[in-house]
Amino acid sequence: MNKTIVALDFSSRQEVMDFLAKFDSPITVKIGMELTYAEGLDLVREIKEAGHDVFLDLKLHDIPNTVKGGMKNLARLGVDLTNVHAAGGVEMMKAGKEGLKEGCTSNKTPLLIAVTQLTSTSQEAMNEEQGIPGTVIDSVVRYATKAKEAGLDGVVCSVHEVKAIKEACGPEFLCVTPGIRLSSDSKDDQKRVATPAFAREQGSDYIVVGRSITKAEDPAKTYAMIEAEMNK
Ligand code: C5P
Repeated sequence: MNKTIVALDFSSRQEVMDFLAKFDSPITVKIGMELTYAEGLDLVREIKEAGHDVFLDLKLHDIPNTVKGGMKNLARLGVDLTNVHAAGGVEMMKAGKEGLKEGCTSNKTPLLIAVTQLTSTSQEAMNEEQGIPGTVIDSVVRYATKAKEAGLDGVVCSVHEVKAIKEACGPEFLCVTPGIRLSSDSKDDQKRVATPAFAREQGSDYIVVGRSITKAEDPAKTYAMIEAEMNK
């Protein structure tokens, strides 16, 4: 997998195909619920068959048995990386990993990462609505350690949380970070952003980049530039 994951935040197959046609060689993409619910999992198969690596971002969260069954079927698609909510608990995360192992048809089990606290959750909402005391970063690190305990490969997190997570879970524990902007870009609706260089310095393993690449004048050139920065 490349270190730069392009978020395919499009709502139709045609837009995705037009976008991918701009690249001469396979890239790594993130497919989320918007595209999946619009076009179905056949599009995931098609993108995999075209040679791209896929992070399927469906954030499963249910009872362990259901997550296991769901993951078994996602593994059959040959995706490279997928995720669950850490809030589902250690048993659920373990079941997700087991499902992936059982459903995997190659010797490369998809990587499984956990969503900790969504970046849209404020400390106030976390304290009041979820009933979790303390700061967001404390909760993020706690969820990350639980994900590690469950045998997961890493977490989705903010660039600003990478250091604390790596300290608690070790350098091998993957941190996949969205919220990336080039220094020349507008921030759009992202509040706290980081450049690819800063993400690399913080120890981010993979960055998720949407609009900075999808809306670039030359997406392939921008992708190559960011990927070179991440591999410095
Ligand atoms: O266009 P942009 O680079 O902001 O897109 C970022 C992608 O990463 C989107 O698909 C967004 O949903 C996702 N994401 C995020 N922040 C999170 C988790 C996921 O921006 N905390």
